[in-house]
Amino acid sequence: MLNEIDNLKDRFRTDTGPGLALYIHWPFCLAKCPYCDFNSHVRERIDQVRFGSALRRELAAEAARLGTRRLTSVFFGGGTPSLMDPSAVAAILGDAARHFDVADDLEVTLEANPTSIGRLADYRAAGVNRVSIGIQSLDEAALRTLGRQHSAAEAVAALALARRLFSRVSFDLIYARPGQDLVSWRAELRAALAIAADHLSLYQLTIEPATPYEALHRQGRLVLPGADTATALYEATEEECARAGLLAYEISNYARPGEESRHNLAYWRYRDYAGIGPGAHGRVTVDGTLRATRRHRAPEPWAERVEQSGHGTTSDEPIAAADRAREALLMGLRLAEGIDLVWFAARTGQTLAQSVDAGILAQCVEAGYLTATPERLIATREGGIRLDSLLGALAT
Ligand SMILES: C[S@@+](CC[C@H](N)C(=O)[O-])C[C@H]1O[C@@H](n2cnc3c(N)ncnc32)[C@H](O)[C@@H]1O
Ligand code: SF4
Repeated sequence: MLNEIDNLKDRFRTDTGPGLALYIHWPFCLAKCPYCDFNSHVRERIDQVRFGSALRRELAAEAARLGTRRLTSVFFGGGTPSLMDPSAVAAILGDAARHFDVADDLEVTLEANPTSIGRLADYRAAGVNRVSIGIQSLDEAALRTLGRQHSAAEAVAALALARRLFSRVSFDLIYARPGQDLVSWRAELRAALAIAADHLSLYQLTIEPATPYEALHRQGRLVLPGADTATALYEATEEECARAGLLAYEISNYARPGEESRHNLAYWRYRDYAGIGPGAHGRVTVDGTLRATRRHRAPEPWAERVEQSGHGTTSDEPIAAADRAREALLMGLRLAEGIDLVWFAARTGQTLAQSVDAGILAQCVEAGYLTATPERLIATREGGIRLDSLLGALAT
């Protein structure tokens, strides 16, 4: 079996080793949204030079140990990367091109907030070729409740500008908001689809620990739609998007075929990705071993560590086979295409049968939550709706 798995690994290698996705975290925002627990911070003044240099230094340290790799995507995420100095974005992309073997069709995404879109043309000149905008809602009252600093008109104008400058543009909306019903969401989503390009991220509102929304929720002042309404909202979302030609390729992501986010696909397909910047996670193969990396979360202490030792890493551990299998399941079952079981075995070092309880797997298939063939394991629509409990049962 081990030999077989070693042979399989070759199927997923290029001349320059396994492909690599690169994530760069920019940890600052103009204001903190009350629902959000991303690693994002508000500062009166951001030291662009310091943070730009620290990102470049940490990238250089990571690249040195990864060796030559085929770089398939770069993602500037946050926080609000549209607050980054375009010269820092250009410098990071220039470094990446020197460190790695850049794929001809390299995807370079930058997340933007409608309040900071003045430099989109400069990001394009720097090498960004895809933009993802946080619009969240097209409803003025909802934007105010979400604590957003822009109007719906400003969000739509930001999108129009992005579409003039970039051929690949996506935007985020949050739904299943307090008081939202099926009729109003369908209307809002249809309006969104009318101005959408080829990709949308549509997230159900989640109450995250230690956010102002959590306090409101605890006090009963913020009531989410019940489970049945949330399911109906999800089904309506899929239906409206499909009608507009955008297919659900992942639980919260919709695209015209071929326009999926290649960077995010690398996470869900459990491929190698390097994470640079405060709080960034990575999964990288070093000397044939898959390792989990994590950087210091708080921006200034992270920068200090980078300045002192060249990187802000707080943990860098090999991932045991059982954990690799659990992670590959957690990520892969989010995808409509499911999990390539040949890849699964090559990546984790164990087969699906060695990774899950056969009885539970059979029950999930029997109940219609999973389809399993020798090649693929896929969560059905029914399984996707209850993905958390499905994963809880399967990936223990
Ligand atoms: C890093 S932000 C995107 C760019 C930019 N920071 C912005 O908000 O305009 C990532 C996305 O995560 C989503 N998000 C954050 N917190 C969420 C929550 N609690 N529930 C659902 N979606 C959330 C939002 O749609 C947000 O656009
Ligand atoms: S949703 Fe975006 S803008 Fe708002 S706090 Fe989170 S990362 Fe910042």
